[in-house]
Amino acid sequence: FVYEGCSHGSDWSLEERCNQMLRNMEASLTARDRVGIQDFVLLDAYMSESAFLDNLRKRFHENLIYTYIGTLLVSVNPYKELNIYNKKQMDTYMGVNFFELPPHIYALADNVFRTMLSEFNNHFILISGESGAGKTEASKKILQFYAVSCPSTKLLNNVRDRLLLSNPVLEAFGNAKTLKNDNSSRFGKYMDIQFDHQGGAVGGHILSYLLEKSRVVHQNHGERNFHIFYQLVEGGEEELLRWLGLERNCQNYSYLVQGDCAKVSSINDKSDWRTVRGALSVIHFSESDIEDLFGIIASVLHLGNIKFEADVRGYASLNNDQEMHWLLGIPTQVLKQGLTHRKIEAKTEEVLSPFSVDHAVYARDALAKAIYGRTFNWLVNKINESLVNTDFSRKTVIGLLDIYGFEVFYVNSFEQFCINYCNEKLQQLFIQLTLKSEQEEYEMEGIEWEPVPFFNNKIICDLVEEKHRGMISLLDEECLRPGEATDLTFLEKLEETIGGHPHFVTHKLADIKTRKTLDRGDFRLLHYAGEVTYCVVGFLDKNNDLLYRNGKEVISHTCLRLPTLLKVMRQSKNAIIKHCFPSSEPDSKKRPETVVTQFKSSLVGLTEILMSKEPWYVRCIKPNDAKQPGRFDDVLVRHQVKYLGLMEHLRVRRAGFAYRRKYEIFLQRYKALCPDTWPHWKGTAAEGVRCLIQHLGYKPDEYKMGRTKIFIRHPRTLFATEDTFQVCKHRLATRIQAKYKGYRVKGHYLKQREAATKIETCWRGMLARKEREKRAWAVKVIKKFIKGFMTRNQPACVDNSEYLAYVRQNYLTRLRDTLPKTVLEKDSWLTPPPIMEEVCDTFLLLKAEASSIFKGKKESYALSVCRPFVDTRISKTAELLSYRIQEFKTYVPVVKYDRNGFRPRLRQLIFTREAAYLVEEAKIKQRINYISLKGVSVSNLSDNFLILHVSCDDIKQKGDLVLQCDHLFEALTQLSLIANKQNCIKVVQGSVRFDIQPGREGFVDFKSGQESMVYRAKNGHLMVSRQRTSSRA
Ligand SMILES: Nc1ncnc2c1ncn2[C@@H]1O[C@H](COP(=O)(O)OP(=O)(O)OP(=O)(O)O)[C@@H](O)[C@H]1O
Ligand SMILES: [Mg+2]
Repeated sequence: FVYEGCSHGSDWSLEERCNQMLRNMEASLTARDRVGIQDFVLLDAYMSESAFLDNLRKRFHENLIYTYIGTLLVSVNPYKELNIYNKKQMDTYMGVNFFELPPHIYALADNVFRTMLSEFNNHFILISGESGAGKTEASKKILQFYAVSCPSTKLLNNVRDRLLLSNPVLEAFGNAKTLKNDNSSRFGKYMDIQFDHQGGAVGGHILSYLLEKSRVVHQNHGERNFHIFYQLVEGGEEELLRWLGLERNCQNYSYLVQGDCAKVSSINDKSDWRTVRGALSVIHFSESDIEDLFGIIASVLHLGNIKFEADVRGYASLNNDQEMHWLLGIPTQVLKQGLTHRKIEAKTEEVLSPFSVDHAVYARDALAKAIYGRTFNWLVNKINESLVNTDFSRKTVIGLLDIYGFEVFYVNSFEQFCINYCNEKLQQLFIQLTLKSEQEEYEMEGIEWEPVPFFNNKIICDLVEEKHRGMISLLDEECLRPGEATDLTFLEKLEETIGGHPHFVTHKLADIKTRKTLDRGDFRLLHYAGEVTYCVVGFLDKNNDLLYRNGKEVISHTCLRLPTLLKVMRQSKNAIIKHCFPSSEPDSKKRPETVVTQFKSSLVGLTEILMSKEPWYVRCIKPNDAKQPGRFDDVLVRHQVKYLGLMEHLRVRRAGFAYRRKYEIFLQRYKALCPDTWPHWKGTAAEGVRCLIQHLGYKPDEYKMGRTKIFIRHPRTLFATEDTFQVCKHRLATRIQAKYKGYRVKGHYLKQREAATKIETCWRGMLARKEREKRAWAVKVIKKFIKGFMTRNQPACVDNSEYLAYVRQNYLTRLRDTLPKTVLEKDSWLTPPPIMEEVCDTFLLLKAEASSIFKGKKESYALSVCRPFVDTRISKTAELLSYRIQEFKTYVPVVKYDRNGFRPRLRQLIFTREAAYLVEEAKIKQRINYISLKGVSVSNLSDNFLILHVSCDDIKQKGDLVLQCDHLFEALTQLSLIANKQNCIKVVQGSVRFDIQPGREGFVDFKSGQESMVYRAKNGHLMVSRQRTSSRA
């Protein structure tokens, strides 16, 4: 079978996908030995950290980086590319229930999306974990999933592209290589993706939190400045660099080399530059915006290269003016003065007071940080403008929170304090929300809540943020109070006020053993995630806005406020700088909030935003500190599991019950285990489940029935049920298979039967139609027969012609069988029917005559015997003629051959008592009196030629007739009888001589050949060639 490890990267068809879905819950349970358990709530030893770790490790080594704790997703950074983020995988997870497939970030993303659509409410996904644990990667994966899975139109695709491409831009400006992470987020990011009611991503909004500006001017060893600086220097086009006055060498810029690692093998600045350049155009940055933006980046680099020297009086002066030329279009002199002097406003006049070199450097760095920080905010706003959705119909949102993770460095400063405080707040939120939701679920299901002991980090949050007594308040107080306030006085204040707090310790407060690990200027906080020692140096400075706009310029060791520089910036020609340092900036007397207070307020705002939405969690874990794939550092992971509160979360999730599922889902899976619930359960799902578990013999303390879910106390109960199901499954599969096969065959059979019936029906129909035609024909025949019978004695007409023919034929047939044996037996002739009585004599007479003339003489005679002679073959022509020729006896159509040239012509031959006529279309062509008929010649062959020899006294008279007649025997027999010319008819062989005209002779030659032909031979004779017929005369 399939276990989850096999599914990664495989190519699934839709059918396979369905099968996979059906099998997967099973996979999670059955493959537990191989790949661990994919949901920690099913861990039997759920209290054991080692068991938890074992499961995580087992899965990590199988490249299964995701594991659930209920709906929370634990993700372990694989530090290598896994083939689990392709389009096929996205398709697989789209629209599938959460627990049906192996754990995946896509499953979570899809579930959030579908819950949002169905419940039409707002959600957020909180991605947490320490620096380098994979938060940013996770948030990108989620965004990519939405980009592919959401409905798409051209308009939506634009928004989608901008959402996606805002990432590389923000990362370029806000991420940097640190010791913990080569792409560490140095700002907090909360991104709302707005969806319309159909789930189309229609807009977005980004909130950014506290950028680590100090990185612009200083990087620890092994760390880098923000990526964008290196990208510009490495990737920027020659022309652009020339225009910005930059050289393609990071080593030339002091802001880029402090960490001594400008080049890192894992980062490709050149290609990242191309991505960022491309992205800027997509998210609506005009060419002038882009020019201004890189003008600023270049200016910061130039600013960093400005060096100061002390003049004779010890005041700072620029050692060269070269860099000034490139700085933001601000007149060199103005900027120079701004960097080396402060303006003191006396009552009526302004006095310039020069800086020392230290102060000048300070001012320079302050300016660089301010420029970069404000430009970053401008950038976020600009991206927000491009993501804004102008349609005001109601939207739902999914928020993605990817914030800097908890971090501990060798030296930790104000930034780490803020970052770790932020993580502390998020942990607090997590505790509140998960506990709350869990308790709510129990309440909803009507199950008693069993309290779970867990560590609540509220105590640390309070230590930091409590009003008046908290560290933030103390820091602010120290920054604002009159008199000499320094970082050390701040430390003393801390010791004074919160010295007894269990989570706080300093060199002075610590016991001897701990003291050894602390410097005098350090304080240590016991965060939820572990101890962090902070160096107090710089806290006051960083907490103050260095360019504070107070009219009174203060320069002390720790507090430097530089309104002069602010004013200088307003003279810039760079549009972004102009925008970021507006002239309308209040030079108010009211002091703006300190950095940490602003940060605290923004976190309160963030908490409010999050609290109003449904939470989902991704907890990221870093498997080792070396960024290496395949290495699972037990100590490191154990520590994270602990401080991320995963064990506690698991305990809360379990709270006595390892497993819970909706009745419908549970019943659907296991109904086969009980005869009453299989295959269909008619009642409610809850009743079905009750029936099922009774049948399975669950003991009362092993489960609880909630309102919509069953709660199972121990995983072993579930596993036992699952194992039973595995056994039962095969039996069921065979039965289902058999049923299905039967069903298929039956279907096939029914189809065949239907086809047979159809064919049968058609065939019967055809037979019936034939039968009907036959009957209709029979009716017609019978009718005709009866009519013929009734009119049999009337003269021949249409009605009786067939009947009479029948009578005749019938008589003749009978006659054939009963012919008298001798002529003498005259009386034994069959009595003819009345209509034949008279005809019969003539008919027989004619036949007898024909026989006497032709029998044994002419080849074709024998075949003619059976053909009855007809009285007459009168046609219309003959009728027309009848008024001209009286009493004509009979008539036959003939072909007459011209005596000269033997051209054939259609004619009729008519016999009367006196003469024979050759007629064409009622026109008499030739009359032959019988008296002048000397004789008739026919050949002995099977041709049907006859030659009438006429005696010609007169030269003007026409000669003999050469004729062809289809009814030769009939015509000649009639002629012989009518004209009494029996002896004149000669059957000759070979050739017949005839008179063309008196005194001119012609010949007709007869022969038998291969085929029948009539033609004029070369000798002038008419050649009649006749195919031989087999005769039986
Ligand atoms: N799912 C993953 N697959 C492959 N590599 C990953 C994955 N998640 C993280 N990584 C690797 O780990 C590095 C650090 O991840 P990421 O930048 O997301 O950490 P982070 O939690 O955002 O850290 P920070 O708090 O410093 O911003 C990534 O650059 C990448 O190389
Ligand atoms: Mg990050």
